[in-house]
Amino acid sequence: MKIKENWSLPDLKEAGRRTRSAIERVDQYLIPAHAMHLGEGKTYHISTYGCQANERDSETMAGILETIGFKPSEDLEHVDVILINTCAIRQNAEEKVLGEIGNFKRLYKENKDLIIGVCGCMAQENSFVKLLLEKYPQVRLLFGTHNIQDLPQLLYEAMNEHTKVVKIYSKEGEVYENLPVKRFGQHKAWVNIMYGCDKFCTYCIVPYTRGKQRSRTMEQILKEVQELKNEGYKEITLLGQNVNAYGKDMENGVDFANLLEEVAKIGIPRIRFMTSHPWDFTDQMIDVIAQYENIMPFIHLPMQSGDDEILKRMGRRYTSESYYELYQKLKAKVPNAAISTDIIVGFPNESDEAFQNTLDLVEKCKFDNAFTFVYSPRPGTPAAKMEDTIDAETKKQRLYTLNEKWGQYARQINTSYEGKVVRVLVDGMSKRNENVYSGYSETNKLVNFTGENIHPGDFVDVLIEEAKTFSLDGKAI
Ligand code: SAH
Ligand code: SF4
Ligand code: F3S
Repeated sequence: MKIKENWSLPDLKEAGRRTRSAIERVDQYLIPAHAMHLGEGKTYHISTYGCQANERDSETMAGILETIGFKPSEDLEHVDVILINTCAIRQNAEEKVLGEIGNFKRLYKENKDLIIGVCGCMAQENSFVKLLLEKYPQVRLLFGTHNIQDLPQLLYEAMNEHTKVVKIYSKEGEVYENLPVKRFGQHKAWVNIMYGCDKFCTYCIVPYTRGKQRSRTMEQILKEVQELKNEGYKEITLLGQNVNAYGKDMENGVDFANLLEEVAKIGIPRIRFMTSHPWDFTDQMIDVIAQYENIMPFIHLPMQSGDDEILKRMGRRYTSESYYELYQKLKAKVPNAAISTDIIVGFPNESDEAFQNTLDLVEKCKFDNAFTFVYSPRPGTPAAKMEDTIDAETKKQRLYTLNEKWGQYARQINTSYEGKVVRVLVDGMSKRNENVYSGYSETNKLVNFTGENIHPGDFVDVLIEEAKTFSLDGKAI
């Protein structure tokens, strides 16, 4: 099948360029008249990989699709449009996506009208797009993270013309407001406060796949939060690759501390935020977190490594000492704060000593939770060119050792909850046991509990009876 002529392909190099040009803000969203009823009588399915930014993008795509008449469906045998929203953060994330696209080949063979579309961060990678175009005939539509708003037109072309439709821009990006949204959560919602990232940590592909840091205006964010409150949402999570850098790309002097405080004043019961880069964490932000009861005492603070030389080569701009200082300040000022982290092992030429420094910092910080990864070279990033003589087996062993270590502290912390009462926002029945409810505590602990007459969205006080590594068990009181 030919590619439609007006295609545009990604270019990671171009995507990593940063200019001083002002951020374009587009407040009005228009769907072309010819695409307005495109989905009538038709269904769609979206598979989402990756982080909350992708989750939230999928909500926008679902919103757009439903605006033009599509209905959601889980019945993949009969669905008309499948979108796969991909993540490029590590190679194993990419392999999963290729596996899923492979599985859809049969569906396409049986139904040549089926539109399989691939979008998200992997679509911003030239090598991946080339591979899809050459080897995966079932993929009819490819669009990037900067092209979501074009979805009605792109689908119109894919459905009405016998071509592959490819539109992927590699650019700094705009801020689109007022795109349709279909929230997947009933009482919890994501709120983007910024897009993109300018930190360029040397291992990371996100600044290339998502463009430059673009903060939404405080006015737009507060408007969205107020609407969510009016609609009865109980919890919002403010999203950004780097929420503590909020506002740095604008010239009005507004920062994350100001934003967080104004959001808190709206009075939604629970406010969370992620992710916090230690680099931009100010004392004022800590004070605001400590001051407002509806800002949850839970901070995700990726450390990545506990070794200063590695941190330097990662481009993280803090030291193990300054990380630990920040950690202590948070613990001292925010009552009962829970802190989680991300750690990478096996960064190029990480020595035994460097790894030991990471273990030492974990020992000092005793995290509530940790997401740990073996370093995965990402095309086009500076770290991918660094010499690496450490073998895969050593890296695997380090991951294991690290997981043992943080798991031991996480269990200890969870055990300290036994006999205490925590307030839980109920999600529904537990995925594993339909006689048990589940939800999250203020400190973001997964709590499974028994009780009666409980509904999703309720706040329930739960007495914790037994702690596990990843969850707490108890009963409603
Ligand atoms: N913006 C967030 C991180 C987003 S990516 C931050 O700066 O904290 C989530 C996590 O994936 C990172 O914190 C890092 O630990 C991990 N990660 C990113 N790139 C990686 C790579 N190339 N290999 C392994 N892990 C990686
Ligand atoms: Fe990636 Fe670093 Fe930006 Fe996080 S802050 S998204 S790790 S470049
Ligand atoms: Fe993955 Fe893109 Fe998020 S690479 S982690 S989906 S920003």
